[in-house]
Amino acid sequence: MKSIEIKPNIFWVGAIDWAVRDFHGYTVPNGTTYNNYLIMDKEITLVDSVKEDFTDISIDNIKSLINPSEIKNIIINHIENDHMGGLEKMMALAPKAVIYTTEKGAEGMRKFFDISTWKIKIVKTGDKLKTGKYTLTFLETPMLHWPDSMFTYVREAKLLFSQDAFGQHYASTAMFDDELARLASHSGLEDATIDYYANILMPFGNLIKSTIKKLNDLCMEIDMIAPDHGIIWRKEPQKAIQMYSDMASGKTNLRALVIFDTMWHSTEKMTQPIILGIRDEGVDCKVVKLRASPTSVAIKEFWKARGCLVGSPTLNNEVFPSVAEFMFHLKGLRPKDRITGAFGSCGWRGGAVDWLYGMFKQMKLESMEPGLQFQYKASSEELDQCYAFGQEFARRIKEYHKKYD
Ligand code: FEO
Repeated sequence: MKSIEIKPNIFWVGAIDWAVRDFHGYTVPNGTTYNNYLIMDKEITLVDSVKEDFTDISIDNIKSLINPSEIKNIIINHIENDHMGGLEKMMALAPKAVIYTTEKGAEGMRKFFDISTWKIKIVKTGDKLKTGKYTLTFLETPMLHWPDSMFTYVREAKLLFSQDAFGQHYASTAMFDDELARLASHSGLEDATIDYYANILMPFGNLIKSTIKKLNDLCMEIDMIAPDHGIIWRKEPQKAIQMYSDMASGKTNLRALVIFDTMWHSTEKMTQPIILGIRDEGVDCKVVKLRASPTSVAIKEFWKARGCLVGSPTLNNEVFPSVAEFMFHLKGLRPKDRITGAFGSCGWRGGAVDWLYGMFKQMKLESMEPGLQFQYKASSEELDQCYAFGQEFARRIKEYHKKYD
């Protein structure tokens, strides 16, 4: 893939990482992309860099249009390595370019590179850069996804460069949402967008709401969103904004998730009547078995359900390690607007279920207490209790969900 024109005289010049499957611990079955863009105006302007290992690909794409030394401005919307890693190499080719970034962006840049000879201009929300025909407006978006982050809006093109926001880890031969929808290999842009939000942006719901409000306050009419990862929203940019607005407001499906691990199938045996109980109360239920599923998939499924039951055996008086890993990961993402519960099998002494409720409390998540814990394999009476537990959890989900209707 070479440069691709996404708006008149505005080109995608990024790189596609087809083979990556582990993105700093986050499983990315569809690979990812590092998108950056070149505005071919009177002042040639590069928007973002790419991951360091992919810099030469981006530079080749730029060279298909111009000599990089002609670049006058470089916008750095976010200083994480996947979007700024190639900047030093780029600056060697365009040493006179002026870098536009936030104050935090400039601070961070100093920690990554020797910037003593670079011209850096710090911008704030509402600041503008006229490149010729186009006018760029900057919008600080702290913590989306780092303190330095900002968006860049091109008024005449109604185009928003949104760095991580509205992106997906999705490598495809399609560049745009409407193209992807026509591909046989299409596995769901919406799902990939939710996956990205759940695993990266879940803690920042309030900031997302205020960012969307700022977009409206600044009267940013948007007919294209070009993120730094994945597919460009050309046909339905408003759908991306609505999805973010809904997720930030706590909207999700009337659905349960049962997530568990098991040692000798005793905890697994408990899940079966629990799931049937949930189903018989008319609530959809998804099941994730840890160790058979990546943590990032478990996090996405947690986000897509209104309620989550976590099942764990007790091992050495503690929660099972794979369940602990999921729970610590979840805690860091500061989930909200979900109801929880716990169950599990133990040998001579329990511990896992109490530990799980302790974690739910730390996360300030509503819980259905008490949970269920049975010794060794559940008896038929105990399996009946599992079924009733599933039914009761489904009823609690339906009640809890009404708040979000
Ligand atoms: Fe894609 Fe926050 O970096």
